[in-house]
Amino acid sequence: MAAELYEKLREHSKSHVYPFHMPGHKMGRGMDFDNIWGMDITEIDGFDNLHHAEGIILDAQKKCAQTFGAEKTYFLVNGSSCGLMAAVFACCNEKDKIIVARNCHKSVFSGLIISGAEPVYVMPENIDGFGIAGGILPETIEKAIEENSDAKAIMIVSPTFEGAVSDVEKIAEIAHKNNMVLIVDEAHGAHFKFNDSFPETALEMGADIVIQSIHKTLPAPTQVSLLHTQGNRFDSVRLETCLAMVQSSSPSYIFMAAADLCREYLDTKGKEDFEKYVQNIEYLRNSIKYLKNFRILDSDIVGKYGIKDIDRGKIVLSSENINCIDAADILAKKYGIILEMSCPGHFAAMTSVSDTIDGYERLIKALKEVDNMDFEKCINRKDMFLIPKPKVIVSPREAFNRQKTSVDFKNSVGKIAAEFAIPYPPGIPVCTPGEEITEDVINILEKYKAFGGEIIGMKHNNLEKIQILM
Ligand SMILES: Cc1ncc(COP(=O)(O)O)c(C=O)c1O
Repeated sequence: MAAELYEKLREHSKSHVYPFHMPGHKMGRGMDFDNIWGMDITEIDGFDNLHHAEGIILDAQKKCAQTFGAEKTYFLVNGSSCGLMAAVFACCNEKDKIIVARNCHKSVFSGLIISGAEPVYVMPENIDGFGIAGGILPETIEKAIEENSDAKAIMIVSPTFEGAVSDVEKIAEIAHKNNMVLIVDEAHGAHFKFNDSFPETALEMGADIVIQSIHKTLPAPTQVSLLHTQGNRFDSVRLETCLAMVQSSSPSYIFMAAADLCREYLDTKGKEDFEKYVQNIEYLRNSIKYLKNFRILDSDIVGKYGIKDIDRGKIVLSSENINCIDAADILAKKYGIILEMSCPGHFAAMTSVSDTIDGYERLIKALKEVDNMDFEKCINRKDMFLIPKPKVIVSPREAFNRQKTSVDFKNSVGKIAAEFAIPYPPGIPVCTPGEEITEDVINILEKYKAFGGEIIGMKHNNLEKIQILM
């Protein structure tokens, strides 16, 4: 039997497609690796051990800490996902409260299940006219603390998938005044440090634990991520134990070496290449700012909707009356341009320092042509996909462990969900185990599906049934 996955990938890698998606090395345009098989080793003499680093891996992590502005940095070989799980687990014992932005990535909810922590959810603001979540207001955090002064930690995502950065500085001040650890999911912002036109980093703004996917926006292979720390508001020994629990005991030397190589690239060529990169982003943004049918998410949203700054490297286009999944489909099929994400209301092209001028020109030309095409018009009420504040009836851990049964999806209002329902992308759950299923939840999932979106996490993702607690 042929190795179809391998063959398909090989063919794809040689085709004419252009990736406006992760990983940030852009299919090898920004990074090369010598003798990949020959370098794939295990913990042999002289090569240290990630789970007890005291030699060459520790040195590589220390250099990363310096480059990214952390006191301590740990390599993550299983993506930011494992770093987020470990961070939540490290800061919370069973039944400890944690204030969690409800627009966090699904791995944060896995962290809640693993740790047994009890979430106090806070909601992001909504960006008017885009149907996209903005930032978390410091006042929202303050209010949650007033009612939950015994919470141990605060977990937020900044930037969001679409590039909205919250006022992490004020949130860190509030957290620290109340003896809480601030964990920031900065998976999409690993590049911020390398040019002043990007937002300040979460570490610069005072967060205690910051998780970054360097594979998303920097030249590094998929899964390669970093967990940074500063200060002593958390138990670093427990954090290291938690990391060892969620990472492979055979961490890939290729991945760790790739993090080291990416760091060296940033130290030596980062300044110069990032100057060109930010010029290219502005060229791209200026070229597409007057499209008829699509509106670009731009810096005019800064200072509103809980947004302190935006990442201008994320090109997010939204439409009033075109299903953006259809538009993204045409970009892929007709122009070979593969985007990072598309959902009914918007789509996003992810740029990085490894993009080429040729790539930008292709995207500009294709977007202008797509803008002039006739689409079947639809009433694309973008805000109908915004996640409503959930009612948590049972903690995620308890719900995960309880007996479940499947019931008719349409008749499940008022029942307690026993599973995740996650429109993907962007991967933020509409409901999680232990939450009440509401009319809003049903409507969002049905509409998302009707627009051609995919829903993951459910046993019956055709939406005929949903698992509830017995
Ligand atoms: C906001 C956010 N956080 C965390 C993650 C998980 O990152 P990783 O893919 O590195 O595990 C993602 C993945 O898409 C994400 O969008």
